[in-house]
Amino acid sequence: MAYLQVRDATKSFAGGTTALRGVSLDVRRGEFFTLLGPSGCGKTTLLRAIAGFNPLTSGTIAVDGIDLTSVPPHKRDIGMVFQDYAVFPHLSVFDNVAFGLKPRKVPPAEVARRVPEALEAVRLAALADRLPAAMSGGQQQRIGLARAMVINPRLLLMDEPLSNLDAKLRIELREEIRDIQQRVGIATIYVTHDQEEALAISDRICVMSNGHVEQVGTPEAIYGDPQTLFVARFVGTLNELERGPALADLLQRLDLGAADRDGVTWTIRPEDIRLVSSGAADTAALEGVVSKCTYLGREAHLHLRTPAGDLIVHVVNPSRVAVPAAGATVAVAVGREALMGFDGEGRRVAARGGA
Ligand SMILES: Nc1ncnc2c1ncn2[C@@H]1O[C@H](COP(=O)(O)OP(=O)(O)O)[C@@H](O)[C@H]1O
Ligand SMILES: [Mg+2]
Repeated sequence: MAYLQVRDATKSFAGGTTALRGVSLDVRRGEFFTLLGPSGCGKTTLLRAIAGFNPLTSGTIAVDGIDLTSVPPHKRDIGMVFQDYAVFPHLSVFDNVAFGLKPRKVPPAEVARRVPEALEAVRLAALADRLPAAMSGGQQQRIGLARAMVINPRLLLMDEPLSNLDAKLRIELREEIRDIQQRVGIATIYVTHDQEEALAISDRICVMSNGHVEQVGTPEAIYGDPQTLFVARFVGTLNELERGPALADLLQRLDLGAADRDGVTWTIRPEDIRLVSSGAADTAALEGVVSKCTYLGREAHLHLRTPAGDLIVHVVNPSRVAVPAAGATVAVAVGREALMGFDGEGRRVAARGGA
């Protein structure tokens, strides 16, 4: 059985906003599970409901087989890390972390043992006596993480813990959070609106929109095998082909005519489009004119105008291959197995491979 079980969770706020519309989730023991979605989709509401800070309108939440519905927050043994660091500036790093143990009436000898352990885990042991005021955002957030972990929680919840940090620190700290989580082995629910962060850090990702779950899966499945148009658009870059004779002709040549219907949106990732030499007899080819070429070192991004709409093509290792300049006419081939179709409701109609 799942370690955390959320069933049919709904939440309506006084005033009429419905933030959760029937969310069901299973999180495994020790799993790093991420809620990913745009601002306002209900991530924080769900996290706060799990922590017990705002009760659900309906539905149930259970951890390790125990229904939490009527358990107050301080008895849930759930650690939480917030976006703003929520450290007490007048307390030392040690006392900030020990603060988490206060309401639990932990004996002083145990406090003296557990706080240094938690500080060790987040690599702040040497700064235990300092005041946090002079510390960096990254260090302050590690205090928050130690304070959440020191209670030996059954579940660690993190709500956009990196969003107040600059880009470089964000990447460093996300690797560190992942390492700590793996070492401690604690089931973690992590909230972010940053798709790259979600892909980098998670065992599994739950993509949410407008109070419901779009898809749950590994990072590879979410990116490579999106089940809805929303997921495909939200995670990564997506080319959406324009409906018309050029697309119909291409689908025929790829033997996908039967899978096509009115209202289907055909899409493809930029790295699944290949430059081919013009005039080559390639049934998968489309002709286009380069409208822009952005050189980025590791890759170049070509913007093409084609009869099936504007496309972005990623060319890997552009220093080694000839990259066409703006104005050039080129041919590109789209992999049949890389085309993803979505129906009028945004649901996937054809798996990769056209099946
Ligand atoms: N306390 C509240 N009272 C009323 N509406 C709220 C409250 N908290 C959140 N909401 C609304 O619920 C929706 C989901 O919010 P939230 O869970 O914070 O989204 P996210 O964390 O994904 O950005 C939003 O429309 C938000 O305005
Ligand atoms: Mg939020």
